[in-house]
Parts: sequence; structure tokens; C-alpha cells
Amino acid sequence: MKIQDIQNEVVREVVSEQDIDNKLGEIAKLIEKDYEGKDLLLVGVLKGAVMCMADLSRHLSRHLEMDWMAVSTYGHGTTSTGVVRILKDLDTDIENRHVLIVEDILDSGLTLSWLKNNLSTRGPASVEIFTLLRKPDALKIHVEPKYVGFDIPNEFVIGYGLDYAEKYRNLRSIATLHPDVYTQKS
Ligand code: IMP
Ligand code: MG
Repeated sequence: MKIQDIQNEVVREVVSEQDIDNKLGEIAKLIEKDYEGKDLLLVGVLKGAVMCMADLSRHLSRHLEMDWMAVSTYGHGTTSTGVVRILKDLDTDIENRHVLIVEDILDSGLTLSWLKNNLSTRGPASVEIFTLLRKPDALKIHVEPKYVGFDIPNEFVIGYGLDYAEKYRNLRSIATLHPDVYTQKS
């Protein structure tokens, strides 16, 4: 789905499809260099990171493995609560593995901080974070991602995996929603 398909629900495009693709290509080159000679396990955070995982992994000109975790930071609202629960754990034993967490967005940082700590207790060779988006003004806890796609303003965004009430994940770019959408009942 493109912005034009939902024009009256969107205020503005924040990151275009082309900019996402270019950035993933750039970051993939850094990852190839940083992990040269090392095995690489990408851990995607469901469901938001599905698009990032699909596109970042295909930009990587090397072997890798993928695994997935699902965590819940709560509800259908537009702000996170900090309560993290594992809904689906990894299938892989990450002991001695080089783990790169793949996330869609770093907002308060509570999810990624928790996740990085959790994975670090499992004896990996390393745990680092890739996040496509970061909202510097929303950070509540110190989290240092190794790779960041775009710093964006502290506004709720949708698209490219990011949802509002489970919708808009299939939007090709990243956009801000019209406030009317939040107040509508579906
Ligand atoms: P945290 O606040 O950094 O813990 O982010 C928790 C999760 O909230 C992210 O992984 C996203 O799934 C979701 N989230 C945070 N900000 C947004 C947003 O602007 N749009 C959609 N989802 C968001
Ligand atoms: Mg997420």
C-alpha cells in the first residue's frame, strides 16, 4: 500500500520508500564489514520488524541466520507502558553467537533495553541493536544501538511494519497518522 491509497488518513510522509531502501543498503555495508569472519544471527522483533528484516537481510551479501522473538509492550494505544512480556521466545540457542537485534523503532527504549539485557544473559558472543527509526526526544532509558536508520521527531508513526491497532504495517513508507484515526472506532 502507498500513501496515495490512504491519503485522508495520513498527515505527512516521514521517510520515503526510496530513502528506506538506500539507508538499508548503506547499513548493510557497515554490517558486512563489522561482522566479517563472524557468524551472524539476526533476531527480529515481531511483528514490527518484519519489513526491516526482509529488506535488510536481502541487502546483506553474506550468509546469516534469522530468528524471531515476539514481545508485548502493551495494548493498542500510541504510547508504550514499559511492561515487557515474551510472547514468543527464540528457537535458537544463542550461546557464543553474534546476535544482531533487528527492530523497527526505538521510542522510550524500554523494549530494546529489556531485550538486550535478556539476550545478554544467555551467553552470546555479542548482542547489538539495529533500529530503523529512533525518536531521540522520547528516550526514557539509555540504549545505544549500533546501527540507526533515521532519527525522527517524537510523533506516532505508521507504516513499513509499524502499526496502529494492527493496521498500516503494509504501507511502503513511514508516515504520521491523522489524529482523527485515533479517535475513530473501527
Ligand atoms: P519502546 O517505547 O522503545 O519500548 O517501543 C516499544 C514498541 O512500541 C516499539 O517496538 C513499537 O512496536 C511500538 N512503537 C513505539 N513508537 C511507535 C510509533 O511511533 N508507531 C508505532 N509503533 C510504535
Ligand atoms: Mg516493535
